[in-house]
Amino acid sequence: MSLNQFVRPPEASGERLIVLGIEASCDETAAAVVVRDPSGRGEILSNIVRSQLAEHAPYGGVVPEIAARAHVECLDTLVAAALSEAGIGLAGLSAVAATAGPGLNGGLVAGLVTGKALALASGLPFLAINHLEAHALTVGLTHGLPPPYLLLLVSGGHTQTLLVEGVGHHRRLGTTVDDAIGEAFDKTAKLLGLGYPGGPEVERMARLGDAARFPLPRPMVGRDEPHFSLAGLKTAVRQRAEAAAPLTEKDIADLCAAFEEAVCEIIADRVSRAMELSEAAFASAPSWLTVAGGVAANKRISKALQMLAAERGYRLAVPPPALCTDNAAMIAWAGAERLAKGFVDPLDFPAKPRWPLDPDAPAAVGAGVKA
Ligand code: KG4
Ligand code: ZN
Repeated sequence: MSLNQFVRPPEASGERLIVLGIEASCDETAAAVVVRDPSGRGEILSNIVRSQLAEHAPYGGVVPEIAARAHVECLDTLVAAALSEAGIGLAGLSAVAATAGPGLNGGLVAGLVTGKALALASGLPFLAINHLEAHALTVGLTHGLPPPYLLLLVSGGHTQTLLVEGVGHHRRLGTTVDDAIGEAFDKTAKLLGLGYPGGPEVERMARLGDAARFPLPRPMVGRDEPHFSLAGLKTAVRQRAEAAAPLTEKDIADLCAAFEEAVCEIIADRVSRAMELSEAAFASAPSWLTVAGGVAANKRISKALQMLAAERGYRLAVPPPALCTDNAAMIAWAGAERLAKGFVDPLDFPAKPRWPLDPDAPAAVGAGVKA
């Protein structure tokens, strides 16, 4: 990655930083303005998200071409709204930050071009943000929590455990060898005839169901390597559903409850393994567990994480749901954190549809590993 350094990092000179963030990597278009004070404390001045759910719902998943067009259509309006809500003009900003990856290329290019054009036109520094790092640093904004800490990132596109050591320093511990957890929720919902996105629908049905009726596997649980696998669980749900067809409401509720419970046990076991690995590798292992991504909204999963953290002597920090899911406040905040350390990126910084946070992490066993 090509990076220029400021001669003097703003952190050193005690500057208050105000950053505009732009996010368009998947199916949410977002713009936000965040302040970082010299002590490292953050405040959100505006945070606007336009979801494309309605555009993609008929297809049961995100359609890249539809996503790119929808981003282009509303980016300038959202940026103007974010600045106006923050009560600030471009001249009042310290920098512009935009997501450069990972994500869908069309949306990344749309968001990046918007951010670069604003930076160029107003003579502001530009910051190209890794979307995963933005999720990883969100607890700095919401809880004032500095690294190091463990992060469980669970969304529609990502399932990872990460040791966040500092801005720009992350070690990936576990990743999925096949589907992301949110994706498994979405596919399970689809096969059971529930709506999109599937996570909230599966959770709603699971509340009414009996988790013990359908036995389901827990792939990778107990394994030494800290990775996740969801494909076998999804296949098992399909087989149980086919065997029980035609499905009643009660069958669907029981299948959802069994699926959700299996996911909770998988997450608790895999995060526990990540804790062991970080404790073994570092004399001063982190004592905070943090969570990001849309799946963190699931109540049964957050309860399982609370229990695990309590058992293992960790404290748990979970940002509010609106800052766990995709948003631009986290992009602006990651931009402010990077700027404070003296980083700034060139205007020819490319979109990176694949951009692992820890490129040195060994590949997980299995095909189709998600970065
Ligand atoms: O972070 P996010 O908003 O977008 C990205 O994927 O980047 O996460 C969306 C994912 C979807 O797969 C959705 O089904 C899942 O998060 N999700 C949930 C819940 N709410 C959203 N999964 C389980 N339980 C929920 N309550
Ligand atoms: Zn995300």
